[in-house]
Amino acid sequence: MEGPRLVSGRALPDDVRFDQSLRPRTLAEYVGQPPVVANLRVAIEAARSRSEALDHVLLFGPPGVGKTSLAHVIAAEMDAPIKATAGPVIERAGDLAALLTALEQREILFIDEIHRLDAKIEEILYPALEDYSLDLMIGTGPGARSMKIPLKPFTLVAATTRAGLLTAPLRGRFGIVHRLDFYTDVDLEFIVSRSARILGVELDPDGARELARRSRGTPRIANRLLRRARDFAQVRADGVITGDVARRALELLEVDDHGFDEVDRKLVLTIIDKFGGGPVGVAALAAAISEEADALEDIYEPYLLQIGFIDRTPRGRVATRRAYEHFGRLPPDSGPGQTNLF
Ligand SMILES: Nc1ncnc2c1ncn2[C@@H]1O[C@H](COP(=O)(O)OP(=O)(O)OP(=O)(O)O)[C@@H](O)[C@H]1O
Ligand SMILES: [Mg+2]
Repeated sequence: MEGPRLVSGRALPDDVRFDQSLRPRTLAEYVGQPPVVANLRVAIEAARSRSEALDHVLLFGPPGVGKTSLAHVIAAEMDAPIKATAGPVIERAGDLAALLTALEQREILFIDEIHRLDAKIEEILYPALEDYSLDLMIGTGPGARSMKIPLKPFTLVAATTRAGLLTAPLRGRFGIVHRLDFYTDVDLEFIVSRSARILGVELDPDGARELARRSRGTPRIANRLLRRARDFAQVRADGVITGDVARRALELLEVDDHGFDEVDRKLVLTIIDKFGGGPVGVAALAAAISEEADALEDIYEPYLLQIGFIDRTPRGRVATRRAYEHFGRLPPDSGPGQTNLF
């Protein structure tokens, strides 16, 4: 079934091409995330006026909320070159050493999925981040000695969806740490409207609102729904994405009112059906839906918490009345004389 995959925040193969062309290039084009943008503006301006490298930046947040985009925006605003790589791509200590020693003054090194960097390789980063130097061991056995190699002042911008997996020493070496949140519907309307202009698609305000509302707070999903709605508008309407066209397109794609994906649905229904609405601990819940506990906390829960479908209590997660109503289940306190949990 196409529906659930369509609203996953993770990049799908046909997103890649579009992600490139739809990416914001400057802070002014970067929609939403006001505290992050405001703080970065100050830090960038200060670093630029001192002609220094920007402090190392850690960006975390769920898939598709603009971490990679922001890394490139930072480089553009710093007027600095950028090299991009990813945790799993760096297989040997020598790979990272080669990358680091080749960096220019003030260059940005972007490491995506930093939580997947091998622990041994991570240790090489510590002195590099702290005082721009590499500690290398030359030779083995009694003749081995360590050598310090100076690096040019550079900026590491790292991104992760799983902040919970980062080690404390690595985390502590970033001067600038920002969590990117889900976007408001208004921000997403703005983003799809801009994307429509870039793609040459006619999208009216009603259509934009409808697409935004079902995008799970995620720009990548908004852009994906826009492309699907464009197909529908071309084939079944006169090419214009109106509110009605958007609704019909999304209905056909089985994207529900909240743009829930498979995991969202499974998570909430498991709390309701298997755990009587909760409270249920994260570990038990994660095991029941075959996900890792920290993936549940870093990726899946935040959106459901934000829209008020689940709550965190000291004894675990509970499903809210809204969740019961959305899934057509009878809340446990609906009988007479029971205490109201909500
Ligand atoms: N603030 C924003 N303003 C406008 N468009 C945005 C913004 N953030 C993201 N987008 C759009 O969403 C797409 C996905 O964003 P991006 O690839 O930066 O997300 P990500 O957080 O790096 O995702 P992943 O976790 O999968 O790496 C971009 O191509 C861009 O079109
Ligand atoms: Mg990314």
